[in-house]
Amino acid sequence: MRSHQITLNERKKSGIHRFSFLSLLVLSFFLQFALNCKPEKQLSPLAEEGKSIYMANCIACHNVNPKIDGAVGPSVANSSFALLEARMKGEYPAGYTPKRPSAAMTRFNFSESQLKSLEEFLK
Ligand code: HEC
Repeated sequence: MRSHQITLNERKKSGIHRFSFLSLLVLSFFLQFALNCKPEKQLSPLAEEGKSIYMANCIACHNVNPKIDGAVGPSVANSSFALLEARMKGEYPAGYTPKRPSAAMTRFNFSESQLKSLEEFLK
């Protein structure tokens, strides 16, 4: 009789444990969901255009994430218009110290507005 009571009590206890464990699981799931689903940084239309140009022309050498060094090209985040303009001709603005000493980058012929959009995207 006594031992029967103990098992009943134990079952009750483990039931409560299971419940709190489950609710913790559910809670952490929702927490993760809430944290992961922060809306992505909204790009302006100009930056979106720059992103398309970057993805189509630059990521063969530069990283998809401009803040990180790529396989061949260095990080290019926050590049100024002057730097971008010069780079497209294989040059650098006067007085600029290049991140890499090589001269391996392809030349490009982009319009001023395309370069502006690239600059905006890389901000
Ligand atoms: C063929 C590979 C290649 C492609 C494609 C390429 N780059 Fe580069 N880029 C490089 C390399 C390598 C360097 C380092 C200097 C050099 O070797 O010319 C560089 C340097 C740069 C720099 C100067 C970084 C610094 O601060 O010193 C900028 C800005 C840049 N690239 C932007 C771009 C953009 C924007 C595009 C696309 C329109 C692009 N690159 C496409 C290879 C590439």
